[in-house]
Amino acid sequence: MTQVPENTQVMKGTQPLKVTQPLRVTVVGTGYVGLGTAIMLAYLGHSVVGLDVDQAKVEMLRSGELPIYEPGLDQLLLDSRERIEWTTEYEAAIPDADVIFICVGTPPNPDGSPNLKYVAQAAQSVARNLNGKTQVIVNKSTVPVGTGDWVARILEEHARDYHANRYLVVSNPEFLREGTALYDSLYPDRIVLGSDRQEGIERMKALYAPLIDQSFTPPSYVPRPDGYTRPELVVTALSSAEMIKYAANAFLALKISFANEIAGLCERVGADIGEVARGIGSDQRIGPRFLSAGAGWGGSCFGKDTSALISTGLEYGYSMPILQAAIEVNTRQRSLIISKLQTHLHRLKGKRVAVLGMAFKPNTDDLRDAPAHDTIARLNELGATVVAHDPVAMPRARREWQHLQYQEASSVQEAVRGADAVIIATEWDEYRALDWNAALGGMRQRLVIDTRNILTVRPDGAVLEQIGKRQLVQAEAQVPEVRFSDGVLVAPASGADPLLSSAGTTL
Ligand code: UDX
Repeated sequence: MTQVPENTQVMKGTQPLKVTQPLRVTVVGTGYVGLGTAIMLAYLGHSVVGLDVDQAKVEMLRSGELPIYEPGLDQLLLDSRERIEWTTEYEAAIPDADVIFICVGTPPNPDGSPNLKYVAQAAQSVARNLNGKTQVIVNKSTVPVGTGDWVARILEEHARDYHANRYLVVSNPEFLREGTALYDSLYPDRIVLGSDRQEGIERMKALYAPLIDQSFTPPSYVPRPDGYTRPELVVTALSSAEMIKYAANAFLALKISFANEIAGLCERVGADIGEVARGIGSDQRIGPRFLSAGAGWGGSCFGKDTSALISTGLEYGYSMPILQAAIEVNTRQRSLIISKLQTHLHRLKGKRVAVLGMAFKPNTDDLRDAPAHDTIARLNELGATVVAHDPVAMPRARREWQHLQYQEASSVQEAVRGADAVIIATEWDEYRALDWNAALGGMRQRLVIDTRNILTVRPDGAVLEQIGKRQLVQAEAQVPEVRFSDGVLVAPASGADPLLSSAGTTL
């Protein structure tokens, strides 16, 4: 029989699902996923405890500060502060919880498989504090297929007072993107719930009822998009939900690698990847998103998840050549930046290179697997002097990139002063909006390597290298360029017919 949590009422069919009383939720781990989940659930009306073993982080959160940069999250925390508290104590956070999320990190092992030691530690600590009544334990960390069953076993082994069938393990993968986490959490395309226990699914439906029905009042700073009605609810077996997370990220990663591979050929045959992506992306079977060619994908998920899938395959003697190729293309894409520099500057020793953008993508201070990291490291090896700028991530880089040699610049102008080349590594709006003619004034040589294809006009007297683009001529200053915003195609004004010359031309 389906069990509905005592304190909730779920209405089925066309009736809206209603939470008549909030659930008590504990979120273990306050990284990007844990924080986003905890604060969003508090905003939706639930009573939330955020738990982290890092005392300093917890102190910070108690004082209303966030340990990460995510647009709007500080405001959402402020708006939800009455329903959220922070602790380091499992004994305080677990016994009363109706739903317990495990959102701890799963960093990659050297062989590409995810390191599950934090998941194991969290599951053991949760187990020791379970209350003997029905509780739902949700895996939101990205974990390999089979981990849900493994967590269930840890709960059985470590729960003080184990009762069969009381601990319901659910996989609820997270699809939010850093930088747009609030938008992705409040207006998701889908919610995936995987469990082999229907009671677990029902409680999760009750938890997410305000999202499923979109019955919450949208925050003014993250309005509900026009035309959005509700997310699709995808209910699956536990193992399928675990696979969905990996397969989704792997598919997005290979879509980007495909665009990058085609971009390389575009450069050679004189075609333009922006136009090609628009032409293929408007086929609904393909779709326009995640076809932006550039420096390749970075961040905490795509590299880790593609490697993890390959490593799972290996355990079964099953090769995954498509994913291998996607990784190879991504690695090649990063080295392309240095090749383009070398094409124009030849020897990089003694040259001064400005790197604009350190975060792996805009609107985040996350530096994990950022293309800028590998670029700076290679420039260091080749003897170039590096000056770097990022609107948000510089303080974090100061802590996390101590092994790299670079000078910090407080503005783009300062970064490019006396430089022989400038590399645009991250497509921050601040860089898009820059008056590039003025900004490049202080350069020794005006060489611009735009690895994110954000420039729509070639700056005066500059040599401009982009990825998979035909070289922009100066005269076309007013012609709108085919470009992407956040992986979504922004169509040019109709009738636009950009005047383009051949790729890589020094004008
Ligand atoms: C990703 C997934 O999108 C998200 O669903 C999952 O939960 C976590 O991993 P995230 O890593 O935050 O999210 O960023 P995303 O916007 O997906 O971008 C990943 C990388 O791909 C970035 O380096 C970005 O610059 C790059 N990218 C993205 C491209 O190079 N081209 C594109 O068209 C889109």
